[in-house]
Amino acid sequence: MKKSGIILSSIILSSSLLFAGKSSFINQDTKVFMKSDAKKEIGKIDTATPIEVLSSIGNFREIKVTGWASYGFENVLFKDIGQRIFYLVLKDNKTKKAKELAKGTDSFGSEWRKVSYKVWVNKTSLSKKINDIDKKGQELFASRCGACHASPEVQHYTANQWPSIIEAMKPRAGLSSQEAQFINKYLQRKTVKGSNHE
Ligand code: HEC
Repeated sequence: MKKSGIILSSIILSSSLLFAGKSSFINQDTKVFMKSDAKKEIGKIDTATPIEVLSSIGNFREIKVTGWASYGFENVLFKDIGQRIFYLVLKDNKTKKAKELAKGTDSFGSEWRKVSYKVWVNKTSLSKKINDIDKKGQELFASRCGACHASPEVQHYTANQWPSIIEAMKPRAGLSSQEAQFINKYLQRKTVKGSNHE
């Protein structure tokens, strides 16, 4: 490893130690706000999105969300380039300024940007462990998706295909939107490696 590499990795290591314990996950689909109160709603953040807690006022937490957005549509953040795994959807791309972190191109040649936003959420929407959130999806999938046909094979569909399947099965399985979302996020997280061939 070159000297610059050693310095860089020690910076990454020390900053990740500094933030240890501050990274969390969104535990339900929830509104995001402009400030540390619920007065100005500016969008929505998805179940299972990883975030970093920056500060705290009363019942609200300022969080940093990082993801990939299609160029010109920086208000919609996804986990990765060309993946239908939603993180954050802001109502527009004027209210909040995105911080640009990197550039990329998808397999169709379209440009993407890696960006981050700082927004506020109610503290009840945060969980320390992703396992607790995954478990809800896993249990719902096991109990509600095998009644009419055999439970589908998780790897049979990609992360980009699961959302429309869940949407179609949601009324059949009598799921609330949040229950359907738990299943969707659980399946997407499990299949995420297989989704790159889309
Ligand atoms: C009330 C019965 C019922 C329940 C509950 C149900 N399904 Fe289905 N599912 C069906 C039927 C009927 C089909 C046949 C295809 C169709 O009509 O869409 C189907 C088809 C499917 C397919 C194949 C779709 C395709 O395009 O080939 C998948 C995958 C699937 N279901 C997943 C699920 C999941 C995930 C759940 C739980 C959220 C679920 N199903 C719950 C009735 C059900």
